[in-house]
Parts: sequence; structure tokens; C-alpha cells
Amino acid sequence: MTVRLGTPLTPTATRVLLLGAGELGKEVAIELQRLGAEVVAADRYADAPAMQVAHRAHVVDMLDPVALRAVVDAERPHVVVPEIEAIATQVLAQIEEEGLARVVPTARATRLTMDREGIRRLAAEELGLPTSPYRFVEDLDGLREAVAALGVPCVVKPVMSSSGKGQSVVRSADDVDAAWRTAVEGGRAAGRRVIVEGFVDFDDEITLLTVRHAGGVTFLPPVGHVQVDGDYRESWQPHPLGADVLAEAERVAGAVTHALGGWGVFGVELFVRGGEVLFSEVSPRPHDTGLVTLVSQDLSQFALHARAILGLPVPAVHALGPAASCAVLAEGTGVPVFTGVDAALAEPGTDLRLFGKPRVAGRRRVAVTLARGADTAAARTRARAAAAALRVELVEP
Ligand SMILES: Nc1ncnc2c1ncn2[C@@H]1O[C@H](COP(=O)(O)OP(=O)(O)O)[C@@H](O)[C@H]1O
Ligand SMILES: [Mg+2]
Repeated sequence: MTVRLGTPLTPTATRVLLLGAGELGKEVAIELQRLGAEVVAADRYADAPAMQVAHRAHVVDMLDPVALRAVVDAERPHVVVPEIEAIATQVLAQIEEEGLARVVPTARATRLTMDREGIRRLAAEELGLPTSPYRFVEDLDGLREAVAALGVPCVVKPVMSSSGKGQSVVRSADDVDAAWRTAVEGGRAAGRRVIVEGFVDFDDEITLLTVRHAGGVTFLPPVGHVQVDGDYRESWQPHPLGADVLAEAERVAGAVTHALGGWGVFGVELFVRGGEVLFSEVSPRPHDTGLVTLVSQDLSQFALHARAILGLPVPAVHALGPAASCAVLAEGTGVPVFTGVDAALAEPGTDLRLFGKPRVAGRRRVAVTLARGADTAAARTRARAAAAALRVELVEP
């Protein structure tokens, strides 16, 4: 089969619709632009990062099926690329059924992974992969029972949430009421369903970036990371794993991504404890901890995603050396203005991305620093130093 790519802004164009236009979508958009795709970015607010590098943009509530379908009907994309979880996934299923466009990786994968229950039951119950012990509950009494059954500490999360929202650790029976409130307030959907997971005292937490493409499956070297309050702060690549543990990590990632199917990058989150690998969750798209691949590899996760979703070959990826990323957060309200960018970039081997988020309200990631080093420890030190040199002010222009 030969892949045919047209010219943007002409009737021959290969049109790609990004649903979600944040900093990860922005890098995907740039890679698609480089391959001559016509890129349309949608998100719920104007001037989102990926919109700034797209051919066209739509401001739309992607949880509204009618509004989402209207954008698809107006744009007639060949490929639809969900970049966030909060999407009316029934519309994606219709698009696939009607043969209107290819959904990346598949409509079913986006539905299963937007809901912790869908992906957990698939991984643990259908595929028999090792995970933390878990229960699903939908009221406070159920939560009390689940905590008693699983023991403390345990982790409570809304089934629909991301970036640690609504998540808390229960350390004693006294924490249960607060955990319930946090989950109900932090969840995305109207429902009150939560997952209770036994706390995994892991040695390491990794993301195994897995690329499913026309030529097969490619595993990238493991990305190690640190999360604070369920949100990623630092990542590095490669994260060292013994040969047996790496083989097990690839087995788990291979099984879950095979079951989800389709083409594209998946971020498979795994806990490593001794020689054991536990599946945690998976994003059917580039992963925030994978930002490190912008400097660690000749083809980043974003370039690989663009290639895979267009049906292009994914060659053996060439590692450029140990590397790290450090997230830069801003808290408050206003338009981000950066100073110290010169200082952050002064050290050779250091790079960064300022996302161009139009406005911050609350705590948001607004930039990431990237660095290579002789080893990952040196790269982490550099990335952290660059992040410390960067100052973010929130202004009302
Ligand atoms: N069962 C668990 N045991 C220990 N830590 C956990 C557990 N579940 C989540 N965490 C921690 O919280 C982070 C966020 O949880 P995750 O399930 O990945 O939620 P999100 O969808 O918000 O990323 C994880 O990366 C990990 O650091
Ligand atoms: Mg996660």
C-alpha cells in the first residue's frame, strides 16, 4: 500500500482534526505540519497552544455530542486525533461506523481509556495482567467497605479524571469521608463512581511509550518519572531496568496496546516493585512524561505519533543520550510572562518549550525544560536548574 499525502488548503489535503489543543497536541500539530497535513485544532477555549500552529481552529465543548459532530461535518477530516480524555466518545464511534474518518487509535480505545473502569477491567479481568487490587464503588458506604476490604493505605480516584484531579490517599478510616468528597468534586462526569486501589509501594514508576504502526509495534526505552499530587513533575529516559523486568514491562504494554488496537503512540504507565511489573493505566496518545523524547531521541513521541497515524513507517529510533524534563507550573490567575529564559538556556545541552497557554486560572503547567547529560542524574540536575532559572509571572495586560 502506498501512502498518499496531498497539499494543505487544497482539495487534495490530508486533513487531521485534533480534539484537544494543549501542549502535547501542539507538538503533534507541528509534526503533522512538517508532513504536509492540513491540521485543524479544537478545544474548549480560544488560542489554545495547538491552535496557534494549526491551519484552522474551533472552540467547542467536546463533551457536547452535537457540537462535536458539527465540527466533524464541517471539516470532513480524514483522521481524528483525540488529545484529551474528556470527549463525547459516542461521536467517535459514529464517525468510525459511518466510515467518515479514521479515529486514532480507535473509537473503542478512547472510550475504554477515558474511564478507569473500562481500562482496568480490560487489563486485569480480560487480559489477566497484574495490577493493584481494586474495587469500584458509587457511594460512601461502598467506599467504607472497599477501604476495609483492601486495607490502608489505599488510593481513591474518580473513574473519570486526569492529572490527579479528585484523587487522594486514604491512610486511616478517618480519611474516608474527605476522600469521598474530593473524588465527587474532582470527577469529570456527573456520575459518582470511584475506583479504590490498594496503595502500591513501588520502587519506580515508568511510562513505556509503545508505538503501534503499519509495520508492527515499537517500544521506546522506558521513561522514569516523579509525580506530585498525581501530576508529573520530572521525567527522564532511559530509566534503567533489568532485562527480565524490561521484558515483562514490554509484555504488559504489548498486551494492553494490542487489545486497544489501532495506530499511534500509547503511554503505558507501569509500577515496578522488585521484579514485578504492575499495569496502572494507559493513554492512547503521547504522554506528558514523554515530553523528554523531544531531546532524547531523533524522532520524538510526537513525530512518531504523526508518522504512525498517517500510516507511515516507524524506523528504529535513534537515542541521542540520557535526557530529562522538568515541568514548570504557574499558580494564580492571568497571562503567563516568562523571565529568566536566557538564564534557563545558558547551559549547553538545555532546551525548553513555552507552551503559549493564553491564560492560567488555578495551577497549570505552562512550560517544560529539557536537558541532556552524561547520565540521567546529570540531565535531571540540568533540567531542574533550568526550571529554577525560569520565572513565570501572571499578568493582566
Ligand atoms: N495504586 C496506587 N499506588 C500508589 N501510587 C499510585 C496509585 N495510583 C496512582 N498513584 C500515583 O498517582 C499518580 C496518578 O495516578 P493515575 O492513576 O496515573 O491518575 P491520572 O489519570 O490522574 O494520571 C500515579 O502516577 C502514581 O504516582
Ligand atoms: Mg496517570
